[in-house]
Amino acid sequence: MASHSIKEITGLFGYPVEHSLSPEMHNAAFNKLGLDYTYLPFEVKPERLKEAVMGIKGLNLRGVNLTIPHKEEVIPYLDQVSKEARLIGAVNTIKNKDGKLIGYNTDGQGFITSLKEEANFIARDKNILIIGAGGAAKAIAFQLALEGANSLYISNRTISRAEELVLTIESKLNEIKVDPVPLEDRKLEMIIGQIDLVIDTTPVGMYPKVDVKPVINPKLLHDDLIVTDIVYNPVETSLLRSAKAVGAKTVSGLGMLLYQGVLAFEIWTGRKAPVEIMKEVLENKII
Ligand code: ATR
Repeated sequence: MASHSIKEITGLFGYPVEHSLSPEMHNAAFNKLGLDYTYLPFEVKPERLKEAVMGIKGLNLRGVNLTIPHKEEVIPYLDQVSKEARLIGAVNTIKNKDGKLIGYNTDGQGFITSLKEEANFIARDKNILIIGAGGAAKAIAFQLALEGANSLYISNRTISRAEELVLTIESKLNEIKVDPVPLEDRKLEMIIGQIDLVIDTTPVGMYPKVDVKPVINPKLLHDDLIVTDIVYNPVETSLLRSAKAVGAKTVSGLGMLLYQGVLAFEIWTGRKAPVEIMKEVLENKII
């Protein structure tokens, strides 16, 4: 009699979840390695988050990803939280380890890995300009600080939010120089000459409003920069197009999406993720 194997179940808790590319990306990876795993989207309403998280234990799911609006709210329901996730104050990956729920944040690390893989960029001793002060900026800023960046400048339309993020980072890590900068040409002009990497964490340029002006004036860009955007649809945003035009190196947001998934896959399965197939899935879905 053929044995009937039980699938290991992983998935995504979000609200909404229907547009996520993660199910296809992970299922393709599981298939590629012949693992008896599956990845499902779960629409979890904010007021049901606690019950959903308890369900990971009750149903013995292997683990889940979390997306909007659950990444911060989930923390009190976990048994253990990684150093990065605790610093960032957000969890995007849970592993069920023998009934214990462990929270990780692979967003910041995924971003760092994509810069390393796609532009050979190492954060140590670098000066970095981050545009935006929301959740994505926070994850990326903490990870860059942990990787030994020399200085971080955080520029935001609402300067008070940039100041708040700077204070949060300073209160938790003391070796990094971190400053808020108003999102104005004059102010950015004063620092851009010493910057190695520009990261746009805002939604500016995202489909369908693809032809908007970039969040910073393209005249500020120069050919010594690496410029990245966390928007991955379109893969080449108006900011990246402008950066290419002045000879700067560019890294698209696809890499961050890919490598946060690669790291989550490795956390759940303990296997090296088949990166190429995961990348192929994303490229086919987006381009
Ligand atoms: P996420 O969690 O994805 O980072 P968020 O917390 O909503 O999302 O943050 C979005 C960021 O993009 C914010 O820094 C926001 O600036 P404000 O704090 O001033 O709102 C920034 N942002 C959004 N739309 C923008 C725009 N049109 N121009 C400049 N910045 C913008």
